[in-house]
Amino acid sequence: MSAEPLEIYLEEQDVVRSLRQDVRVGLTAEPKWLPPKWFYDARGSELFEAITRLPEYYPTHAERAVLAEHAGDIAELTGAKTLIELGSGSSEKTRLLLDAFTRRGGLGTFVPLDVSVSALRQSTEEIAAEYPRLRVRGIVGDFTRQLDRLPTGGRRLVVFLGGTIGNLMPIERTEFLTAMRAALEAGDWLLIGTDLVKDPAVIVPAYDDAAGVTADFNRNVLRVINRELGADFDPEAFAHVAVWDPEHEWIEMRLRAERPMRVHVLDLDVEFAAGEELRTEISAKFRPEGIAAELTAAGFDPQAFWTDPDGLFGVTLARAD
Ligand code: AVJ
Repeated sequence: MSAEPLEIYLEEQDVVRSLRQDVRVGLTAEPKWLPPKWFYDARGSELFEAITRLPEYYPTHAERAVLAEHAGDIAELTGAKTLIELGSGSSEKTRLLLDAFTRRGGLGTFVPLDVSVSALRQSTEEIAAEYPRLRVRGIVGDFTRQLDRLPTGGRRLVVFLGGTIGNLMPIERTEFLTAMRAALEAGDWLLIGTDLVKDPAVIVPAYDDAAGVTADFNRNVLRVINRELGADFDPEAFAHVAVWDPEHEWIEMRLRAERPMRVHVLDLDVEFAAGEELRTEISAKFRPEGIAAELTAAGFDPQAFWTDPDGLFGVTLARAD
């Protein structure tokens, strides 16, 4: 069976409008910053997939180990009829869940939601072919904005993998979890992957790999802005920086201007001093008690918490109260 046509809730003009808005806000701020969702055009999504295969980038391998071990438990505990995946990307690890649900029976629909049309088109076609009895409804959308568009009814399991929730600022995280809870009904489920706090000597190389793939991924946001908004960033004049922030327990990616620059974008002349840094991402790391507290505060009841054998990455299964 082929996937159903993608449901597109982000129109091209909305996307460009919100990119313009983010660029205007972020590049006139002090210090400058940009939201990480703009990495993921077709090339950025491919670069991220390449990151997940790097030896230094442990979150993917670790989360896959958890899902391989516990997919059967997740299928049994939730008995979900509909599986919704936020920020689904390639849905590569999600196949472990789909396999478990296929063995168990009862799952009827898979709904991946992502900002990247290219990633979604490919993943929905592949999954529809691999799981012929599953209804596959891809949604092009922003997981912080399209929660009210999720399919209703049946017992739903929302999965949010990879540690992507760590890209949100703490306040945004609270808003997101609260909105997520509001979009669900009591008895629905949330499965959420979170990278755990650990020695920065392990975390930093995961965000600053020897092959330079993450550096290329980071610079991709500048290529996106050049193409979409006609800006004149010279991406090669920016160095990739990854720094651990011990106070907030997150890693930051930045782009450091290697020389003074003036960039034209929209109606702005954006000045960069030599050495000035532009923040492009935070990726928060979590402690088990913190995850449980945030979920509980948002109206979820954490029922299981699993890690990989090395304790690098956590996966929590919580029920909407
Ligand atoms: C896709 C958001 C989970 O934060 O680890 C990978 C993105 N950034 N390398 C992460 C990312 C740099 C990734 N997430």
